[in-house]
Amino acid sequence: MRNTVGRAVRGAGLAAAVAAAGVAARTQEGPPVWPMTPDQPTSARLLAALPEGDEKRKFLLDCTGCHQLSVRTAYPAGAARDSADWDAAVQRMLRYGGARGGFPVIHDGREAASTARWLARHLPARPPVAGDGSEAWRALVPAASAWRVTEYPLQPAWELPHDVAVDGAGRVVITGMMTGRMYVLDPRTGTMDTVPVPVPRANPRAVEVDAAGRWWVALGGPRQVAVHDPRASGAAAWRTFATGMYPHSVALGRDGEGWFNGHFTRSPELIGRVSLAAGAGRVDTVAVTPHPTLAEVPGGPIPYEIRVAPDGVVWTSELSGNRLVAHDPRDGRTWAVPIPEAHGGPRRFDVDARGALWVPLYAGNALLRYEPASNRFTRLPLPIPDAVPYVARVDRASGDVWVGTSAADAVLRWTPAASRWRVYPLPSRGALVRHLAVDARTRDVWLAYGASPGPAARVARLTVR
Ligand code: HEC
Repeated sequence: MRNTVGRAVRGAGLAAAVAAAGVAARTQEGPPVWPMTPDQPTSARLLAALPEGDEKRKFLLDCTGCHQLSVRTAYPAGAARDSADWDAAVQRMLRYGGARGGFPVIHDGREAASTARWLARHLPARPPVAGDGSEAWRALVPAASAWRVTEYPLQPAWELPHDVAVDGAGRVVITGMMTGRMYVLDPRTGTMDTVPVPVPRANPRAVEVDAAGRWWVALGGPRQVAVHDPRASGAAAWRTFATGMYPHSVALGRDGEGWFNGHFTRSPELIGRVSLAAGAGRVDTVAVTPHPTLAEVPGGPIPYEIRVAPDGVVWTSELSGNRLVAHDPRDGRTWAVPIPEAHGGPRRFDVDARGALWVPLYAGNALLRYEPASNRFTRLPLPIPDAVPYVARVDRASGDVWVGTSAADAVLRWTPAASRWRVYPLPSRGALVRHLAVDARTRDVWLAYGASPGPAARVARLTVR
Protein backbone atom coordinates (compact mmCIF):
# COMPACT_ATOMS: atom_id res chain seq x y z
CA MET A 1 0.00 0.00 0.00
CA ARG A 2 1.23 3.46 -0.74
CA ASN A 3 -0.17 6.79 0.21
CA THR A 4 0.27 8.33 -3.18
CA VAL A 5 -2.28 10.52 -4.81
CA GLY A 6 -3.22 10.09 -8.45
CA ARG A 7 -2.27 12.29 -11.34
CA ALA A 8 -4.27 15.46 -11.24
CA VAL A 9 -7.23 15.33 -13.56
CA ARG A 10 -9.69 18.13 -13.31
CA GLY A 11 -12.53 15.83 -12.35
CA ALA A 12 -15.19 18.44 -12.80
CA GLY A 13 -17.79 15.70 -13.14
CA LEU A 14 -20.58 15.42 -15.61
CA ALA A 15 -22.75 18.04 -13.96
CA ALA A 16 -20.02 20.62 -14.03
CA ALA A 17 -18.95 19.64 -17.53
CA VAL A 18 -22.47 20.10 -18.77
CA ALA A 19 -22.91 23.37 -16.90
CA ALA A 20 -19.63 24.63 -18.27
CA ALA A 21 -20.85 23.84 -21.74
CA GLY A 22 -23.60 26.38 -21.27
CA VAL A 23 -26.45 23.90 -21.08
CA ALA A 24 -27.48 25.06 -17.65
CA ALA A 25 -27.76 28.59 -18.91
CA ARG A 26 -29.97 27.55 -21.79
CA THR A 27 -32.43 25.56 -19.72
CA GLN A 28 -32.34 27.78 -16.61
CA GLU A 29 -31.68 24.97 -14.16
CA GLY A 30 -30.14 21.83 -15.57
CA PRO A 31 -29.65 19.73 -18.67
CA PRO A 32 -32.50 19.41 -21.15
CA VAL A 33 -35.23 16.79 -20.64
CA TRP A 34 -36.05 14.95 -23.83
CA PRO A 35 -39.66 13.79 -24.05
CA MET A 36 -39.73 10.23 -25.37
CA THR A 37 -42.73 8.00 -25.95
CA PRO A 38 -43.21 4.22 -26.27
CA ASP A 39 -44.39 4.51 -29.89
CA GLN A 40 -40.81 5.45 -30.79
CA PRO A 41 -38.31 2.71 -31.67
CA THR A 42 -35.81 1.75 -28.98
CA SER A 43 -32.22 2.85 -29.25
CA ALA A 44 -31.35 -0.80 -29.95
CA ARG A 45 -33.41 -0.67 -33.15
CA LEU A 46 -31.56 2.42 -34.29
CA LEU A 47 -28.18 0.89 -33.48
CA ALA A 48 -29.05 -2.15 -35.60
CA ALA A 49 -28.53 0.01 -38.71
CA LEU A 50 -24.85 0.55 -37.89
CA PRO A 51 -22.57 -2.14 -39.35
CA GLU A 52 -20.93 -4.54 -36.87
CA GLY A 53 -17.22 -4.15 -36.25
CA ASP A 54 -14.61 -2.16 -34.35
CA GLU A 55 -15.97 1.16 -35.59
CA LYS A 56 -19.36 0.43 -34.09
CA ARG A 57 -17.88 -0.84 -30.84
CA LYS A 58 -15.85 2.33 -30.43
CA PHE A 59 -18.90 4.43 -31.25
CA LEU A 60 -20.91 2.65 -28.53
CA LEU A 61 -18.12 3.27 -26.02
CA ASP A 62 -17.67 6.93 -26.94
CA CYS A 63 -21.15 8.10 -27.77
CA THR A 64 -23.73 6.19 -25.72
CA GLY A 65 -22.35 6.57 -22.20
CA CYS A 66 -24.08 9.87 -21.34
CA HIS A 67 -27.21 9.51 -23.46
CA GLN A 68 -28.66 7.13 -26.03
CA LEU A 69 -28.53 7.29 -29.77
CA SER A 70 -32.28 7.88 -29.97
CA VAL A 71 -34.92 9.32 -32.24
CA ARG A 72 -34.33 12.56 -30.36
CA THR A 73 -30.60 12.67 -31.06
CA ALA A 74 -30.52 11.08 -34.53
CA TYR A 75 -33.82 12.29 -36.03
CA PRO A 76 -34.55 15.59 -34.26
CA ALA A 77 -37.00 16.84 -36.89
CA GLY A 78 -38.21 13.45 -38.12
CA ALA A 79 -35.52 13.07 -40.79
CA ALA A 80 -31.92 11.94 -40.41
CA ARG A 81 -29.26 14.54 -39.67
CA ASP A 82 -26.86 15.19 -42.48
CA SER A 83 -23.11 14.96 -42.15
CA ALA A 84 -22.65 18.69 -41.38
CA ASP A 85 -25.25 18.47 -38.64
CA TRP A 86 -23.53 15.46 -37.06
CA ASP A 87 -20.20 17.16 -37.37
CA ALA A 88 -21.38 20.17 -35.38
CA ALA A 89 -22.96 17.95 -32.72
CA VAL A 90 -19.85 15.77 -32.32
CA GLN A 91 -17.62 18.83 -32.02
CA ARG A 92 -19.79 19.93 -29.11
CA MET A 93 -19.64 16.45 -27.58
CA LEU A 94 -15.85 16.50 -27.76
CA ARG A 95 -15.95 19.65 -25.67
CA TYR A 96 -18.03 17.89 -23.01
CA GLY A 97 -16.23 14.55 -22.93
CA GLY A 98 -13.11 14.64 -25.15
CA ALA A 99 -10.00 12.76 -24.01
CA ARG A 100 -8.02 15.98 -23.48
CA GLY A 101 -10.69 17.82 -21.47
CA GLY A 102 -11.86 17.82 -17.86
CA PHE A 103 -14.20 14.82 -18.17
CA PRO A 104 -12.36 12.49 -20.56
CA VAL A 105 -14.85 9.74 -21.41
CA ILE A 106 -14.39 9.76 -25.20
CA HIS A 107 -11.27 8.03 -26.58
CA ASP A 108 -8.45 10.14 -27.94
CA GLY A 109 -8.90 9.13 -31.58
CA ARG A 110 -12.51 10.34 -31.86
CA GLU A 111 -12.83 12.90 -34.57
CA ALA A 112 -15.91 14.84 -35.68
CA ALA A 113 -15.66 14.64 -39.47
CA SER A 114 -15.19 10.87 -39.81
CA THR A 115 -17.80 10.16 -37.12
CA ALA A 116 -20.25 12.41 -38.94
CA ARG A 117 -19.65 10.72 -42.29
CA TRP A 118 -20.05 7.25 -40.81
CA LEU A 119 -23.32 8.08 -39.06
CA ALA A 120 -24.79 9.95 -42.03
CA ARG A 121 -23.88 7.07 -44.32
CA HIS A 122 -25.38 4.25 -42.26
CA LEU A 123 -28.42 5.67 -40.49
CA PRO A 124 -31.47 5.42 -42.76
CA ALA A 125 -33.25 8.59 -43.87
CA ARG A 126 -36.24 7.81 -41.66
CA PRO A 127 -36.17 6.20 -38.22
CA PRO A 128 -37.07 2.51 -38.07
CA VAL A 129 -40.57 1.72 -36.85
CA ALA A 130 -41.03 0.66 -33.24
CA GLY A 131 -41.01 -3.09 -32.63
CA ASP A 132 -44.18 -4.85 -33.78
CA GLY A 133 -44.11 -7.53 -31.10
CA SER A 134 -42.78 -10.25 -33.39
CA GLU A 135 -39.12 -10.01 -32.33
CA ALA A 136 -37.61 -13.39 -31.46
CA TRP A 137 -36.78 -12.32 -27.88
CA ARG A 138 -40.49 -11.79 -27.13
CA ALA A 139 -40.69 -15.56 -26.52
CA LEU A 140 -38.45 -14.98 -23.48
CA VAL A 141 -40.83 -12.50 -21.80
CA PRO A 142 -42.63 -14.23 -18.90
CA ALA A 143 -46.44 -14.08 -18.71
CA ALA A 144 -47.67 -10.60 -17.74
CA SER A 145 -49.23 -11.91 -14.53
CA ALA A 146 -45.81 -13.10 -13.30
CA TRP A 147 -44.08 -9.73 -13.00
CA ARG A 148 -44.68 -6.04 -12.58
CA VAL A 149 -42.68 -2.84 -13.09
CA THR A 150 -43.45 0.30 -11.08
CA GLU A 151 -41.72 3.55 -11.97
CA TYR A 152 -41.07 6.40 -9.52
CA PRO A 153 -40.33 9.87 -10.87
CA LEU A 154 -37.69 12.11 -9.33
CA GLN A 155 -37.78 15.87 -9.08
CA PRO A 156 -36.31 17.77 -10.82
CA ALA A 157 -36.92 15.86 -14.04
CA TRP A 158 -33.35 16.68 -15.19
CA GLU A 159 -31.90 14.83 -12.22
CA LEU A 160 -29.53 11.98 -13.01
CA PRO A 161 -30.33 9.09 -10.63
CA HIS A 162 -27.01 7.37 -11.06
CA ASP A 163 -26.93 4.50 -8.57
CA VAL A 164 -29.37 2.69 -6.29
CA ALA A 165 -28.78 0.65 -3.13
CA VAL A 166 -31.27 -1.01 -0.80
CA ASP A 167 -30.83 -0.71 2.96
CA GLY A 168 -31.68 -3.37 5.55
CA ALA A 169 -35.20 -1.98 5.99
CA GLY A 170 -35.95 -2.10 2.28
CA ARG A 171 -35.53 1.64 1.69
CA VAL A 172 -33.97 2.58 -1.60
CA VAL A 173 -31.05 5.01 -1.51
CA ILE A 174 -30.46 6.90 -4.76
CA THR A 175 -27.63 9.24 -5.81
CA GLY A 176 -28.72 12.48 -7.49
CA MET A 177 -25.68 13.25 -9.56
CA MET A 178 -26.99 16.48 -11.08
CA THR A 179 -28.42 18.23 -8.00
CA GLY A 180 -25.82 16.80 -5.65
CA ARG A 181 -28.25 15.29 -3.17
CA MET A 182 -29.41 11.85 -2.14
CA TYR A 183 -32.96 10.46 -2.30
CA VAL A 184 -34.52 7.84 -0.06
CA LEU A 185 -37.56 6.05 -1.39
CA ASP A 186 -39.75 4.09 0.97
CA PRO A 187 -41.51 1.54 -1.24
CA ARG A 188 -44.20 0.86 1.35
CA THR A 189 -45.48 4.43 1.26
CA GLY A 190 -44.05 5.62 -2.05
CA THR A 191 -42.54 8.67 -0.32
CA MET A 192 -39.32 10.06 -1.71
CA ASP A 193 -37.25 12.05 0.80
CA THR A 194 -34.19 14.07 -0.09
CA VAL A 195 -31.02 14.14 1.97
CA PRO A 196 -28.49 16.88 1.28
CA VAL A 197 -24.81 15.97 1.07
CA PRO A 198 -22.85 18.59 3.05
CA VAL A 199 -20.26 19.12 0.31
CA PRO A 200 -20.54 21.88 -2.33
CA ARG A 201 -21.38 20.49 -5.81
CA ALA A 202 -21.27 17.06 -4.22
CA ASN A 203 -21.74 15.12 -7.48
CA PRO A 204 -22.68 11.78 -5.81
CA ARG A 205 -22.45 8.97 -8.32
CA ALA A 206 -22.03 5.55 -6.70
CA VAL A 207 -23.51 4.28 -3.43
CA GLU A 208 -23.36 1.11 -1.38
CA VAL A 209 -25.03 0.45 1.98
CA ASP A 210 -22.98 -1.63 4.43
CA ALA A 211 -24.16 -4.14 7.05
CA ALA A 212 -24.26 -1.39 9.70
CA GLY A 213 -26.62 0.67 7.52
CA ARG A 214 -23.99 3.27 6.56
CA TRP A 215 -23.99 4.73 3.07
CA TRP A 216 -20.69 4.80 1.19
CA VAL A 217 -20.95 7.43 -1.50
CA ALA A 218 -18.45 8.27 -4.25
CA LEU A 219 -18.39 12.06 -4.78
CA GLY A 220 -16.86 12.43 -8.23
CA GLY A 221 -16.08 16.14 -8.74
CA PRO A 222 -15.09 16.85 -5.10
CA ARG A 223 -12.77 13.79 -5.17
CA GLN A 224 -14.10 12.37 -1.96
CA VAL A 225 -15.73 9.30 -0.52
CA ALA A 226 -18.45 10.20 1.97
CA VAL A 227 -19.75 7.88 4.67
CA HIS A 228 -23.19 8.68 6.03
CA ASP A 229 -24.78 7.23 9.14
CA PRO A 230 -28.55 7.81 8.79
CA ARG A 231 -29.06 7.27 12.53
CA ALA A 232 -26.64 10.00 13.54
CA SER A 233 -27.43 13.69 13.44
CA GLY A 234 -25.48 16.89 13.01
CA ALA A 235 -21.79 16.79 12.22
CA ALA A 236 -21.53 13.10 13.14
CA ALA A 237 -23.88 12.07 10.33
CA TRP A 238 -21.37 12.57 7.51
CA ARG A 239 -17.66 11.84 7.32
CA THR A 240 -15.77 12.71 4.18
CA PHE A 241 -12.43 11.41 2.96
CA ALA A 242 -10.27 13.07 0.32
CA THR A 243 -9.29 10.46 -2.25
CA GLY A 244 -6.98 12.60 -4.39
CA MET A 245 -8.77 11.37 -7.51
CA TYR A 246 -12.23 11.33 -9.09
CA PRO A 247 -13.72 8.16 -7.57
CA HIS A 248 -15.95 6.29 -10.01
CA SER A 249 -17.39 3.42 -7.98
CA VAL A 250 -17.36 2.13 -4.42
CA ALA A 251 -17.22 -1.44 -3.13
CA LEU A 252 -17.57 -2.81 0.36
CA GLY A 253 -14.61 -4.81 1.64
CA ARG A 254 -14.73 -7.80 3.93
CA ASP A 255 -13.54 -5.96 7.02
CA GLY A 256 -15.82 -2.95 6.98
CA GLU A 257 -13.63 -0.88 4.66
CA GLY A 258 -14.65 0.78 1.41
CA TRP A 259 -12.77 0.55 -1.90
CA PHE A 260 -12.88 3.07 -4.74
CA ASN A 261 -11.24 3.43 -8.15
CA GLY A 262 -9.84 6.50 -9.88
CA HIS A 263 -12.01 7.01 -12.99
CA PHE A 264 -9.41 9.01 -14.88
CA THR A 265 -6.19 7.65 -13.40
CA ARG A 266 -3.75 5.96 -15.77
CA SER A 267 -0.11 6.64 -14.89
CA PRO A 268 -0.30 5.42 -12.22
CA GLU A 269 -3.72 3.79 -12.43
CA LEU A 270 -5.11 3.79 -8.90
CA ILE A 271 -7.59 2.16 -6.62
CA GLY A 272 -7.92 3.06 -2.95
CA ARG A 273 -9.27 2.02 0.39
CA VAL A 274 -11.06 4.02 3.09
CA SER A 275 -10.73 2.42 6.53
CA LEU A 276 -12.88 3.70 9.38
CA ALA A 277 -11.31 1.60 12.10
CA ALA A 278 -8.35 3.81 13.03
CA GLY A 279 -9.79 6.87 14.80
CA ALA A 280 -10.18 9.53 12.13
CA GLY A 281 -10.01 6.82 9.47
CA ARG A 282 -7.44 6.66 6.71
CA VAL A 283 -7.12 6.47 2.96
CA ASP A 284 -4.54 4.27 1.22
CA THR A 285 -4.04 3.99 -2.50
CA VAL A 286 -2.61 1.20 -4.62
CA ALA A 287 -1.14 1.50 -8.11
CA VAL A 288 -2.45 -1.39 -10.22
CA THR A 289 -0.80 -3.07 -13.22
CA PRO A 290 -0.36 -0.31 -15.82
CA HIS A 291 -2.20 -0.58 -19.11
CA PRO A 292 0.23 -1.71 -21.83
CA THR A 293 -0.94 0.77 -24.49
CA LEU A 294 -3.22 3.36 -22.85
CA ALA A 295 -1.33 4.36 -19.70
CA GLU A 296 0.41 7.24 -21.47
CA VAL A 297 -2.42 8.18 -23.84
CA PRO A 298 -4.92 11.00 -22.99
CA GLY A 299 -8.20 9.47 -21.89
CA GLY A 300 -6.44 6.29 -20.80
CA PRO A 301 -8.12 3.00 -19.92
CA ILE A 302 -11.10 4.54 -18.00
CA PRO A 303 -11.33 2.48 -14.79
CA TYR A 304 -14.97 1.62 -14.20
CA GLU A 305 -16.60 -0.80 -11.77
CA ILE A 306 -14.98 -2.01 -8.56
CA ARG A 307 -16.13 -5.07 -6.55
CA VAL A 308 -14.63 -7.20 -3.81
CA ALA A 309 -14.75 -10.99 -4.28
CA PRO A 310 -15.56 -13.38 -1.42
CA ASP A 311 -11.82 -14.16 -1.05
CA GLY A 312 -11.09 -10.45 -0.52
CA VAL A 313 -9.53 -9.82 -3.93
CA VAL A 314 -10.49 -6.39 -5.27
CA TRP A 315 -11.48 -6.36 -8.95
CA THR A 316 -11.87 -3.37 -11.22
CA SER A 317 -12.83 -3.12 -14.89
CA GLU A 318 -11.51 -0.81 -17.60
CA LEU A 319 -14.10 0.39 -20.05
CA SER A 320 -11.63 1.50 -22.71
CA GLY A 321 -8.65 -0.55 -21.57
CA ASN A 322 -10.72 -3.72 -22.02
CA ARG A 323 -9.21 -5.47 -19.01
CA LEU A 324 -10.15 -6.75 -15.59
CA VAL A 325 -7.57 -5.74 -13.02
CA ALA A 326 -7.14 -7.42 -9.65
CA HIS A 327 -5.46 -6.53 -6.38
CA ASP A 328 -5.04 -8.91 -3.47
CA PRO A 329 -4.75 -6.86 -0.26
CA ARG A 330 -3.40 -9.91 1.58
CA ASP A 331 -0.10 -9.92 -0.29
CA GLY A 332 -0.27 -6.65 -2.25
CA ARG A 333 -0.15 -8.37 -5.64
CA THR A 334 -1.87 -6.81 -8.64
CA TRP A 335 -2.45 -8.41 -12.04
CA ALA A 336 -4.53 -7.88 -15.16
CA VAL A 337 -6.80 -10.15 -17.20
CA PRO A 338 -7.45 -8.93 -20.76
CA ILE A 339 -10.97 -9.38 -22.15
CA PRO A 340 -10.68 -11.94 -24.97
CA GLU A 341 -12.26 -9.77 -27.68
CA ALA A 342 -11.43 -6.32 -29.05
CA HIS A 343 -13.31 -3.31 -27.64
CA GLY A 344 -15.58 -5.45 -25.49
CA GLY A 345 -16.16 -2.64 -22.99
CA PRO A 346 -16.37 -4.41 -19.60
CA ARG A 347 -18.70 -2.12 -17.66
CA ARG A 348 -20.39 -2.64 -14.29
CA PHE A 349 -19.74 -6.27 -13.36
CA ASP A 350 -20.51 -8.26 -10.22
CA VAL A 351 -18.97 -11.20 -8.38
CA ASP A 352 -21.06 -14.20 -7.33
CA ALA A 353 -20.88 -16.18 -4.09
CA ARG A 354 -18.37 -18.61 -5.60
CA GLY A 355 -16.05 -15.86 -6.81
CA ALA A 356 -16.94 -15.86 -10.52
CA LEU A 357 -17.20 -12.45 -12.22
CA TRP A 358 -20.23 -11.62 -14.38
CA VAL A 359 -19.16 -8.94 -16.80
CA PRO A 360 -21.49 -7.04 -19.13
CA LEU A 361 -19.63 -6.41 -22.37
CA TYR A 362 -21.10 -3.07 -23.24
CA ALA A 363 -19.93 -2.95 -26.84
CA GLY A 364 -19.84 -6.74 -27.31
CA ASN A 365 -23.55 -7.27 -26.49
CA ALA A 366 -22.71 -10.23 -24.29
CA LEU A 367 -22.49 -11.31 -20.70
CA LEU A 368 -19.10 -12.75 -19.86
CA ARG A 369 -18.49 -15.12 -16.99
CA TYR A 370 -14.92 -15.16 -15.74
CA GLU A 371 -13.73 -17.73 -13.27
CA PRO A 372 -10.46 -16.61 -11.63
CA ALA A 373 -9.68 -20.08 -10.24
CA SER A 374 -9.47 -21.67 -13.71
CA ASN A 375 -8.78 -18.43 -15.63
CA ARG A 376 -11.66 -19.35 -17.97
CA PHE A 377 -14.17 -17.14 -19.78
CA THR A 378 -17.65 -18.17 -20.90
CA ARG A 379 -19.40 -15.85 -23.35
CA LEU A 380 -23.19 -15.57 -23.33
CA PRO A 381 -24.57 -13.48 -26.22
CA LEU A 382 -27.58 -11.38 -25.18
CA PRO A 383 -30.94 -12.42 -26.60
CA ILE A 384 -31.75 -8.87 -27.82
CA PRO A 385 -29.57 -7.49 -30.63
CA ASP A 386 -27.79 -4.20 -29.81
CA ALA A 387 -29.10 -4.20 -26.23
CA VAL A 388 -25.82 -2.67 -24.98
CA PRO A 389 -25.53 -4.22 -21.49
CA TYR A 390 -24.41 -1.68 -18.89
CA VAL A 391 -24.66 -3.34 -15.49
CA ALA A 392 -24.87 -6.86 -14.07
CA ARG A 393 -25.82 -7.78 -10.52
CA VAL A 394 -26.05 -11.24 -9.01
CA ASP A 395 -28.96 -12.17 -6.78
CA ARG A 396 -26.89 -13.89 -4.13
CA ALA A 397 -29.85 -16.00 -2.99
CA SER A 398 -30.70 -17.58 -6.35
CA GLY A 399 -27.48 -17.09 -8.28
CA ASP A 400 -29.46 -15.43 -11.09
CA VAL A 401 -27.74 -12.57 -12.89
CA TRP A 402 -29.71 -9.39 -13.67
CA VAL A 403 -28.51 -7.29 -16.57
CA GLY A 404 -29.56 -3.67 -17.13
CA THR A 405 -29.26 -2.48 -20.71
CA SER A 406 -28.46 0.90 -22.12
CA ALA A 407 -30.36 0.63 -25.39
CA ALA A 408 -33.14 -1.99 -25.24
CA ASP A 409 -35.45 -0.51 -22.59
CA ALA A 410 -35.41 -3.94 -20.99
CA VAL A 411 -33.89 -5.85 -18.10
CA LEU A 412 -32.51 -9.31 -18.73
CA ARG A 413 -32.16 -12.21 -16.36
CA TRP A 414 -29.77 -15.10 -16.78
CA THR A 415 -30.41 -18.23 -14.73
CA PRO A 416 -27.15 -20.21 -14.73
CA ALA A 417 -28.77 -23.34 -13.27
CA ALA A 418 -31.14 -23.56 -16.25
CA SER A 419 -28.94 -21.81 -18.85
CA ARG A 420 -31.87 -19.60 -19.63
CA TRP A 421 -32.52 -15.94 -20.46
CA ARG A 422 -35.66 -14.07 -19.55
CA VAL A 423 -36.56 -10.58 -20.77
CA TYR A 424 -38.55 -7.94 -18.86
CA PRO A 425 -39.43 -4.98 -21.11
CA LEU A 426 -39.67 -1.62 -19.33
CA PRO A 427 -42.64 0.69 -19.80
CA SER A 428 -40.58 3.79 -20.66
CA ARG A 429 -38.76 4.70 -23.82
CA GLY A 430 -35.20 5.84 -23.19
CA ALA A 431 -34.74 3.76 -20.01
CA LEU A 432 -30.95 3.66 -19.95
CA VAL A 433 -30.43 1.34 -16.96
CA ARG A 434 -27.16 2.55 -15.50
CA HIS A 435 -27.39 0.71 -12.24
CA LEU A 436 -29.49 -1.87 -10.43
CA ALA A 437 -29.67 -3.48 -7.01
CA VAL A 438 -31.45 -6.56 -5.72
CA ASP A 439 -33.35 -6.21 -2.41
CA ALA A 440 -31.99 -9.17 -0.44
CA ARG A 441 -35.26 -9.56 1.50
CA THR A 442 -37.95 -9.23 -1.17
CA ARG A 443 -35.76 -10.07 -4.21
CA ASP A 444 -37.21 -7.02 -5.95
CA VAL A 445 -34.89 -5.50 -8.50
CA TRP A 446 -34.40 -1.74 -8.33
CA LEU A 447 -33.33 0.10 -11.46
CA ALA A 448 -31.94 3.59 -11.98
CA TYR A 449 -32.63 5.11 -15.40
CA GLY A 450 -29.67 7.33 -15.97
CA ALA A 451 -29.65 8.91 -19.41
CA SER A 452 -28.35 12.47 -19.37
CA PRO A 453 -29.82 14.11 -21.27
CA GLY A 454 -32.81 11.80 -21.53
CA PRO A 455 -36.43 11.44 -20.52
CA ALA A 456 -37.66 12.64 -17.10
CA ALA A 457 -35.63 11.08 -14.28
CA ARG A 458 -36.99 7.97 -12.62
CA VAL A 459 -36.17 4.77 -10.81
CA ALA A 460 -38.16 1.56 -11.16
CA ARG A 461 -38.98 -1.54 -9.21
CA LEU A 462 -39.30 -4.92 -10.88
CA THR A 463 -41.24 -7.43 -8.83
CA VAL A 464 -41.28 -11.03 -10.00
CA ARG A 465 -43.91 -13.22 -8.43
C1 HEC B 1 -20.06 13.69 -21.55
C2 HEC B 1 -21.41 13.33 -21.94
C3 HEC B 1 -21.69 13.16 -23.44
C4 HEC B 1 -21.06 12.31 -24.32
C5 HEC B 1 -19.91 11.36 -24.05
C6 HEC B 1 -21.74 12.49 -25.58
N1 HEC B 1 -22.75 13.39 -25.45
FE1 HEC B 1 -24.05 13.94 -26.90
N2 HEC B 1 -24.98 15.23 -25.60
C7 HEC B 1 -24.55 15.48 -24.31
C8 HEC B 1 -25.32 16.59 -23.78
C9 HEC B 1 -25.15 17.18 -22.37
C10 HEC B 1 -26.24 16.98 -24.78
C11 HEC B 1 -27.28 18.10 -24.71
C12 HEC B 1 -26.67 19.44 -24.92
C13 HEC B 1 -26.27 19.70 -26.34
O1 HEC B 1 -26.98 19.30 -27.27
O2 HEC B 1 -25.21 20.31 -26.52
C14 HEC B 1 -25.99 16.10 -25.91
C15 HEC B 1 -26.68 16.13 -27.10
C16 HEC B 1 -26.39 15.39 -28.21
C17 HEC B 1 -27.10 15.49 -29.47
C18 HEC B 1 -28.30 16.35 -29.72
C19 HEC B 1 -27.89 17.70 -30.15
C20 HEC B 1 -29.08 18.55 -30.52
O3 HEC B 1 -29.02 19.13 -31.57
O4 HEC B 1 -30.04 18.59 -29.74
C21 HEC B 1 -26.47 14.64 -30.35
C22 HEC B 1 -26.80 14.43 -31.81
C23 HEC B 1 -25.40 14.00 -29.64
N3 HEC B 1 -25.38 14.46 -28.34
C24 HEC B 1 -24.53 13.06 -30.20
C25 HEC B 1 -23.43 12.52 -29.53
C26 HEC B 1 -22.41 11.73 -30.17
C27 HEC B 1 -22.39 11.34 -31.65
C28 HEC B 1 -21.50 11.42 -29.21
C29 HEC B 1 -20.16 10.69 -29.39
C30 HEC B 1 -19.15 11.47 -30.09
C31 HEC B 1 -21.98 11.98 -27.96
N4 HEC B 1 -23.14 12.66 -28.21
C32 HEC B 1 -21.35 11.84 -26.74
C33 HEC B 1 -23.58 14.80 -23.62
C34 HEC B 1 -22.73 13.84 -24.16
